[in-house]
Parts: sequence; C-alpha cells; structure tokens
Amino acid sequence: MRWRIAARPTGRELRADDYTRDDSPLMVRLADGELHVRVLMLSCDPAQKGWMENAGGYAAPTEIGDVMPAGGIGQVIESTAAGFAPGDLVQGSLGWANDLVVKAAGMRLVEPEPDAARLNLGLLGSSGLTAYFGLTRIGVPQAGDTLVITGAAGAVGSIVGQIGKIAGCRVIGIAGGESKCRWLTEELGFDHAIDYKAEKVKHRVRELAPGGIDVLWDNVGGDMLDDLMARIAHRARVVICGGIARYQQRGRPPGPGNYFNIVFKSARMEGFLLSDFARDHDLGRDRLRRWLAEGRIVQRDEVVDGLDKAPETLMRLFCGDNVGKLLINVAEPA
Ligand SMILES: NC(=O)c1ccc[n+]([C@@H]2O[C@H](COP(=O)([O-])OP(=O)(O)OC[C@H]3O[C@@H](n4cnc5c(N)ncnc54)[C@H](OP(=O)(O)O)[C@@H]3O)[C@@H](O)[C@H]2O)c1
Repeated sequence: MRWRIAARPTGRELRADDYTRDDSPLMVRLADGELHVRVLMLSCDPAQKGWMENAGGYAAPTEIGDVMPAGGIGQVIESTAAGFAPGDLVQGSLGWANDLVVKAAGMRLVEPEPDAARLNLGLLGSSGLTAYFGLTRIGVPQAGDTLVITGAAGAVGSIVGQIGKIAGCRVIGIAGGESKCRWLTEELGFDHAIDYKAEKVKHRVRELAPGGIDVLWDNVGGDMLDDLMARIAHRARVVICGGIARYQQRGRPPGPGNYFNIVFKSARMEGFLLSDFARDHDLGRDRLRRWLAEGRIVQRDEVVDGLDKAPETLMRLFCGDNVGKLLINVAEPA
C-alpha cells in the first residue's frame, strides 16, 4: 500500500483528500545501486506540507501522483548496492508506503539496537540534529543567557530547551496549552513556560525576561515573532528554524514590524537548514547520544500505528495535537 499526492495544499490546511491510496503491489526490478526497502517507521514533519507544494526549492521536487515523501527507517529486502545487505536497517528519504525502491546513495546504515527507529527519527534524527546545530552553531548560547523558544513543546523545540539548560541558559518556552507548559517546566526543567493560547506573550516575556532575550529560537513566525523581536537584548541571536504560523496561510505574511531592533540592538537574525551541517551530523549524534546516556536529555514521542493513518496523523502537527515527536509505525523489523 502507498499514499500518493493528489493535490498541492498551498495556502490552505492539509486535507484527507490531498492523497490517494494505491493498493497495487510494487513491481520491483532494481537498477545498480538501488535498494528494495520495507518501511518500518516514518517521521511526521511540518516540512512535508512544503514538500507537497514544492515550497522553497530546497527539497527534491514532487509531482502529483508521487508517493508522499517522508523521512523514515526501513529494512533492506534486496540490494544491488555495495555495503548494503538484506536485513540492514537504513535511514533516509522514504515515503508513505509499505515498501519502496530507493537509491542507496541517499541512505544511511543504522545500528540495530532497541528502539533504533524511534531514536534515529527523533533525538538522533532531524529533530535532535536541527536543535543541536541550530542552537550551538547559530544561537551560540552562553551561560546566563535568556533563551526563548516558540513551538517549545514540539519535537525540535523541546530538545532546544534541554540543550539550552545544558548550556546554562535561563530557558523560557512558549507553547499552546497548560499541559504542554507544565511538561516543559516540571519534566524538562525549563525555567518558565508561557501558554500563548491563554496568556499575552508580549506581557509575559516582559515580566519573565526583564533584561531582554539573548537567544530567540523561532519555530512559528508571524505575530509571535514580531512581539518577541521587540524584546531582544543587545547582541541577541535570533535563530529562524521554522515558521509554522505561515505554512497554511494564503499569500505572503507581513514582515516582522520590529525587525529594525536588529539594528538598535546590534543583533543577528539567521535562518538555516539542517542540511547545512551535513558534514557534522555524526558529531551531533554522538553528542546527543552522550547526553541521553547521562540522563541530561530525554525524548518524548508518540508512535501512531498504521500507514493507513498517515494523512490524519500529519495533520495533527498543524493543530498542536502533538507533544514532542510524532511517528508512524508501519511494520516491525523482520
Ligand atoms: N530549518 C530546519 O532545517 C528545520 C528542520 C526541522 C524542523 N524545522 C521547523 O521547525 C519547526 C518545528 O518542527 P517540529 O518537527 O518540531 O514540529 P512540532 O513543533 O513538533 O509540531 C508543530 C507544532 O507547531 C505548533 N503550531 C502549529 N500551528 C501553529 C500556529 N499557527 N501558531 C503557533 N504554533 C503552531 C503546535 O504546537 P502548539 O500546541 O504549541 O501550538 C504544533 O505542535 C517547524 O516550523 C519546522 O518546519 C526546521
């Protein structure tokens, strides 16, 4: 079974009928350097909506009728590529399918270990690595800095805050809902959390960060970013990781009106893609794995069972119906 893209959701919410279900069996004839892979687990990422729209031009373009792309972990069924054998676990760009043919060149071998798929798609995957490289290389947190994170209870934001605590920052997370906020402060050790659905972010940040924001990690954009830009400190670093508030909007959103604070505060605003740091991904994984072993960082995730639920599961990211990493279990390893 596979899900194919049926429509581009540009300027609107995702819908169940943006995909068509294809139950025909896959005809497999491998060219040199290819793998026939059984999909085990898939990552849910807000970027997948952008991939359906060919937004930004940074990812491989999609066509209507293509299998819906998704990062995932699979198990090799058949290989014509040196270094890959049946039974191996691989990670890379897979898709919403039970099995696929992929080029081995884009795949990474994964050590079999308990929870290999969950870990490698979460903390040691794109979410953890995005948090690690964006914060350490662009946010450059210093002990005593005030770090504010939007989308703080999500897959990336929850790791950013934990790395910020390791770096000695005062961490303030902004998330939607009381239970998410409680999780951030009571279990992840954030110093404060602001429920943007119930509180005025502008006022609360003024109270909680009277000296201003040294590192602003933004996953959301829109008015929230604008309000926070008004509170940046001298020499602040504003890390633009995502902008989920704009992913469903039609047209171009207004720019942050407070952007000129970058001048008044001699600050820096910088975006990035995780792929910018591809050369160092192994280094990031080693560091995150060490923090995990030392109990200084935790991964929270939810695994939804069944490829048939993929369309409805991805939609949950856009209405805040996830805490930490959202994953789809497709099959158990053979
Ligand atoms: N630059 C990169 O290389 C890179 C890599 C990975 C991810 N990203 C970006 O990082 C961000 C976080 O990704 P993730 O995988 O960790 O997703 P996530 O935060 O786990 O899930 C999305 C969350 O966004 C919040 N949200 C949804 N719509 C919103 C809105 N209109 N206003 C405010 N908050 C909204 C919801 O939380 P609440 O309940 O708190 O609203 C939801 O749980 C995304 O923008 C993603 O595109 C960038």
